[in-house]
Amino acid sequence: MDAAMSTQSELAELGRQYLYPNYRQAPLAIVRGEGALLWDAEGKRYVDMLGGIAVSALGHAHPKLVAAIADQAAKVIQVSNYYYNEPNVRLAQKLCTLTGMARAFFCNSGTEAVEAALKLARRYFHTQGQPERLKVLAYANSFHGRTLGALAATGQEKYKQGFGPLPGALHVPYGDLEATRRALGPEVAAVIFEPVQGEGGVVPAPPGFIRDLRALTQETGTLLIADEIQTGIGRTGTFLACEAAGVRPDIVVLAKGLAGGVPIGSMLCTEALAEALPPGAHGSTFGGNPLASRAALTVLETLESEKLVARTRELGGVLASGLEKLVARHPKKLEGARGSGLLQAAVLVEGIDPRAVIATLQTRGLMLSVAGARALRFSPPLVVTQELISEALGILDATLGELSVQ
Ligand SMILES: Cc1ncc(COP(=O)(O)O)c(C=O)c1O
Repeated sequence: MDAAMSTQSELAELGRQYLYPNYRQAPLAIVRGEGALLWDAEGKRYVDMLGGIAVSALGHAHPKLVAAIADQAAKVIQVSNYYYNEPNVRLAQKLCTLTGMARAFFCNSGTEAVEAALKLARRYFHTQGQPERLKVLAYANSFHGRTLGALAATGQEKYKQGFGPLPGALHVPYGDLEATRRALGPEVAAVIFEPVQGEGGVVPAPPGFIRDLRALTQETGTLLIADEIQTGIGRTGTFLACEAAGVRPDIVVLAKGLAGGVPIGSMLCTEALAEALPPGAHGSTFGGNPLASRAALTVLETLESEKLVARTRELGGVLASGLEKLVARHPKKLEGARGSGLLQAAVLVEGIDPRAVIATLQTRGLMLSVAGARALRFSPPLVVTQELISEALGILDATLGELSVQ
């Protein structure tokens, strides 16, 4: 296959004809990247503040990741879970060391990691002689994925419409400890939460909430699942966002940035939960394969060797102050800025179409995404530079300046 043989508009036409139309795709085909830059099939350059939706932790074409993937592909890509493979065992060890958890299960996406966590919670109580503890308590405006269990936990109706009854989940307002306490009946197995609601619009938990939630779930014997799929792997300035709150959940789910763009998901749990899913109870053909595991191990090693988590805190400060300045300069267009580390957003005022803003930014060479109703989300590669952040803020500034509002 030679991608250069098709023009961008030919590719877009083929995509419109043959791809299942469940995405709203821009008529662009991306052909290559480097760090936090991307180029389309016509050679146009983009500053990538989207990062493959908070995925490309090491940026595009990081030489260490490229070399590790090529080396592993030349050795062995897939062996099945009938056997061990070194990258996978080492990855499990590394993740447990980094998070303080005891066991790691591997799958291929965020939603699968959430699904594994929900199944583990149910089966744990089944093995404890409490089979009535089946429900998950989640938060309004949350996003946990698209498989039926993860979708049930998701607290946004727009994702659920038309899919009929979903397995039992309860929802209360995000950050509301008293509502959580009231909803924690005898049928609730677990509480699942995002430390910062990503898809919901980059909404951080209120101060103290995560710590109080940990104490509450300990009181009631309910399992606490931290969905760190978007916030984990250093994105908010600590390896896990829960770390900043001084909290260790019972279960942590990771995906997105973990293997730098190679599909992977992971569910980590405490030793107390290690016997709830015995051999045969859960699994995945591709889960823990050597290729994805080696990529993830390389991401974790590179986060350390390039001190990317500390850098995320530093650059997060630069981004936050840049966004605050834009809010001050464009009060009729931006109502605020929020987030932490390299997961932040500028929030448009009501009445401005965020998709139109994103489309204009794209024509000017800036990639961003909309989260929630009106948040322009920044989730760049963790290797982004201060210069590229300034360039991105400059493009947003100019675009907001030209935007007319009633
Ligand atoms: C917090 C959170 N959980 C779960 C998911 C689902 O992950 P995936 O799209 O890899 O299935 C996402 C994806 O955006 C997410 O942000």
